[in-house]
Amino acid sequence: MLDEPQLYKVEAYPYREEYLLRVSEAIKSRKSVRQFTNAPVSESQVRDLLEVSKWAPSGGNLQPWKIQALTGAPLKALVDDVADKLMTGVEETPEYNVYPPELTEPYRTRRRVVGQALYDLIGVPRSDTPGKLKQLAKNFEFFGAPVGIFFILDRQMEIGQYADLGMLMQNIMLLAREMGLHTCPQEAWARWPETISKHLDVPENEMVFCGMALGYMDGEAIINQLQSERDDFDQLITMRGF
Ligand SMILES: Cc1cc2nc3c(=O)[nH]c(=O)nc-3n(C[C@H](O)[C@H](O)[C@H](O)COP(=O)(O)O)c2cc1C
Repeated sequence: MLDEPQLYKVEAYPYREEYLLRVSEAIKSRKSVRQFTNAPVSESQVRDLLEVSKWAPSGGNLQPWKIQALTGAPLKALVDDVADKLMTGVEETPEYNVYPPELTEPYRTRRRVVGQALYDLIGVPRSDTPGKLKQLAKNFEFFGAPVGIFFILDRQMEIGQYADLGMLMQNIMLLAREMGLHTCPQEAWARWPETISKHLDVPENEMVFCGMALGYMDGEAIINQLQSERDDFDQLITMRGF
């Protein structure tokens, strides 16, 4: 993680402050933030963020994505609805398996390591299932972020279009850094397809792929100290002919 760089006024957007970041700094300073301050993010900030991010590439220029950004009352209504369902033990059939049911190595260990690091950090022991569920439930409050974004795909789409959507999401996450904002992409929302579709008027031929929390990082929150790891270059990458 890089230290938070200084904010500047940028000529193109005189009404907003930005960090002047190299792309590499945006990449390295992005991380999944799981507690946000309640500082609002303005409509113009969200519009700018999405307007620039939409220039992501997509195979055949399909631009297969639809986006819904929520704040204020619509966000609260959804969060409250899910909270009520969690309280009363209501569950929905998830939209998809977030992970393969029989995840093999090395992926299984990578998943366990980051999960364990998170729970260690917030002092939830391995055996404390209610404590883990409580943390999971924070997903459904967007971790306190003032803005929640949903990414929606037409169900006819194939694997290639999921990659396109990933590029759009990464644009948003990197550009958010330039605006001093942080994000957390959230597949956890795949657990609530019916509730989300009802609140967002998503027709049956479209699916809500995932959510994303957007806002200002709570720098005091211990959970935001989590630093995930990456495997060494040589384990991940094969270079030939150089
Ligand atoms: C598509 C996608 C969905 C994710 N869903 C969740 C989620 O539901 N809840 C969560 O806390 N983190 C979620 N994450 C964050 C990952 O756990 C995180 O990216 C990973 O552990 C690496 O950490 P970093 O983002 O801080 O670098 C998701 C990430 C991606 C790319």
